[in-house]
Amino acid sequence: MKIGSLELKNSIFLAPMAGITDLPFRTVVRSFGCGLAYTEMVSAIGLARKADKTLRYLSTSPSDRPLGVQIFGSDPETLADAARIAEQHGADLIDLNMGCPVKKVTKTGAGAALMTDPALAAAIMQAIRKATALPFTVKIRSGWNARQANALEIGKIAVESGCDAVTLHARTADQGYSGHADWTLIARLKGHIRIPVIGSGDIRKPLDASRMFQETRCDGAMIGRGALGNPWLIGEALSFIDDNHNHEPTLAEREEVIIRHLDMSAAFYGERAGVRDFRKHLLWYTKGLKGGARFREAAGQITDRETTITAMRDYFHEIAHESEA
Ligand SMILES: Cc1cc2nc3c(=O)[nH]c(=O)nc-3n(C[C@H](O)[C@H](O)[C@H](O)COP(=O)(O)O)c2cc1C
Repeated sequence: MKIGSLELKNSIFLAPMAGITDLPFRTVVRSFGCGLAYTEMVSAIGLARKADKTLRYLSTSPSDRPLGVQIFGSDPETLADAARIAEQHGADLIDLNMGCPVKKVTKTGAGAALMTDPALAAAIMQAIRKATALPFTVKIRSGWNARQANALEIGKIAVESGCDAVTLHARTADQGYSGHADWTLIARLKGHIRIPVIGSGDIRKPLDASRMFQETRCDGAMIGRGALGNPWLIGEALSFIDDNHNHEPTLAEREEVIIRHLDMSAAFYGERAGVRDFRKHLLWYTKGLKGGARFREAAGQITDRETTITAMRDYFHEIAHESEA
């Protein structure tokens, strides 16, 4: 599939997730074949000020390709500046966040609040479009709430403003992450606009991605929460499309991925901060596994790499034995 001038090797992407889709996690997910991955949402104001902490979100590597940098804000010129800076720092694609429902963001007019002001949304899209020749996409929700579900209107504005694709997380902002994503709206948007539509929401199993493509005719499908503790889901979804089979990772493969991810986190953030940040991933990696709750309680206290690895190896050893017995 193609987004603007960008040729992608496949059409299953990793969704942007704040606090999660950093360079280590993206690198792990990419090793399973993901077609495109995004940074978490990055503040346009922070980028325009060249704040070190904000610029760190743009950290990337040669294997972290192609990379979408997602920016958020509510001022056209600041967002245009941010797009230029992201381009200078190696972005392959710029994405505008119009879906974040968090109050801290929406009260500044950014994120999903932009959907309630189509004129401002258009001005922002046009300013970003002028600022960069990179492929430019917007990520929207179904609308602010059920009464103001204007995804089709915003999708049309995106086309008129020169965007190269629209991603739709098919929930309203006031739904947050509850209930189900309404895939029929993704199908309607696809029928309504002539640029690629990427569907987002509720792909949890390999079969779900195939279903989303079939039911909505979308051009791309994005996986968010389903990849937490399960980075191989994108690879599984891709192979399911080919052969209709599930290829679940073995315990040994899980263990290898967890250690690789931990090592990357420790290298990226420094050991102490990296291990601390990694704890949440460790909880996700062991969710649903036998004795996982006991392991997670113990793992929550760990602060160094060696102890984490020893605890994890012991735990995997134990469950491997139990399943043989
Ligand atoms: C913890 C978390 C953080 C998220 N952060 C972002 C973000 O920074 N930008 C964005 O556009 N969407 C964000 N999302 C929304 C996801 O990209 C995605 O659209 C949504 O979770 C629905 O897909 P899923 O059911 O596959 O998770 C976030 C979701 C979660 C759960």
